[in-house]
Amino acid sequence: MIIGIRQIPSRYFLSPLAGYTHLAFRMAIRELGGLGLATTDLVQASMLLAEKPKSLELVATHTDDRPLSVQIFSGHRDQLVKAARWLEEHEYQGVDINMGCPMAKVNGQGGGARLMCDTQNAQATVAAVVEEVSIPVTVKMRLGWDDEHITAPELARSFEQVGAAAITLHGRTRQQGFHGTVNLDGIRQTVEAVDRIPVIGNGDVRSIEDAQHMQALTGCDAVAIGRGAMLDPWIFHKLSQVARGESPTDPTPTEQIDFLVRHFTLMTRQHAEYSCMLFRKFAGWYGARLGIPEDLEDGLRRFTTFDEFDAIVEAIRQRHGERETSIPTALVKVPNGPNERW
Ligand SMILES: Cc1cc2nc3c(=O)[nH]c(=O)nc-3n(C[C@H](O)[C@H](O)[C@H](O)COP(=O)(O)O)c2cc1C
Repeated sequence: MIIGIRQIPSRYFLSPLAGYTHLAFRMAIRELGGLGLATTDLVQASMLLAEKPKSLELVATHTDDRPLSVQIFSGHRDQLVKAARWLEEHEYQGVDINMGCPMAKVNGQGGGARLMCDTQNAQATVAAVVEEVSIPVTVKMRLGWDDEHITAPELARSFEQVGAAAITLHGRTRQQGFHGTVNLDGIRQTVEAVDRIPVIGNGDVRSIEDAQHMQALTGCDAVAIGRGAMLDPWIFHKLSQVARGESPTDPTPTEQIDFLVRHFTLMTRQHAEYSCMLFRKFAGWYGARLGIPEDLEDGLRRFTTFDEFDAIVEAIRQRHGERETSIPTALVKVPNGPNERW
């Protein structure tokens, strides 16, 4: 499919999960095949412009990490414009404006989902960014602030008019946070509201059937998968097999352990020894998914050297299957409680 001037090789995209879908994870998933477009974590425009080390880490990429869009957020139009220019000057190929983040620290400064509340300002913001750069500008948003303010169809149409190249739509309101179910009807209405730009449906896709269901009910041009890609990194590969008329194949235990090693190895290229710390947040997830015995999962949470990592992996290979595998659904934490306090 085409987004602006970009040819995207598959209709299944990786939805950004801040803290998880970093360069190493994206690269490891790309190597499995079937992934279309990936997007970085949201990066604060002003921090990117100041070239803060944390922001540069978030936009770190590689020639094999393609196609990639960088997602920026800000409540200030001029910062979004300048950050988009910065990205173009640094040879990134796409810029995605975040209009979906529900977090108070982002909404409080007028960014993320807050932008959806003032449709004229939102349109003028997208127009200003589009005017500034020649790389495609896309927007990721929610259905609206709450059930009384479903602005996505109107916004999508108005963004198309000022030159946005695609819209990704998480089918929940800001008020909903991550609760309740995704409103496929709301996604369909947004698909119908635009003339020709692609609308990418998003939310709660965890299986081939979920993706097909979303495509059938909404008519969306592509599907973005976030948490589902953490639960099953092979989901893009399987969806592409199905798209080619083949039966989807599940990875063998060896392939799954190899994926764990590959993910860590790629991480070390960016973060060297610090990867031992960074990998800890994935321990529980790999533990459940691969059925790694508890003591070894614990080891993945504590190791401090590459040698220790190698020893743990060797033990996982020997003892894999001692513990039953399960679907690690709860391990990608979402904000909870009253959302005005997020
Ligand atoms: C931990 C976490 C971090 C997220 N970070 C981002 C982000 O940086 N930018 C963004 O647009 N959406 C972000 N999202 C939202 C997801 O991209 C996606 O829209 C949402 O999780 C619904 O899709 P899913 O059910 O496939 O995960 C995040 C969600 C979670 C749970």
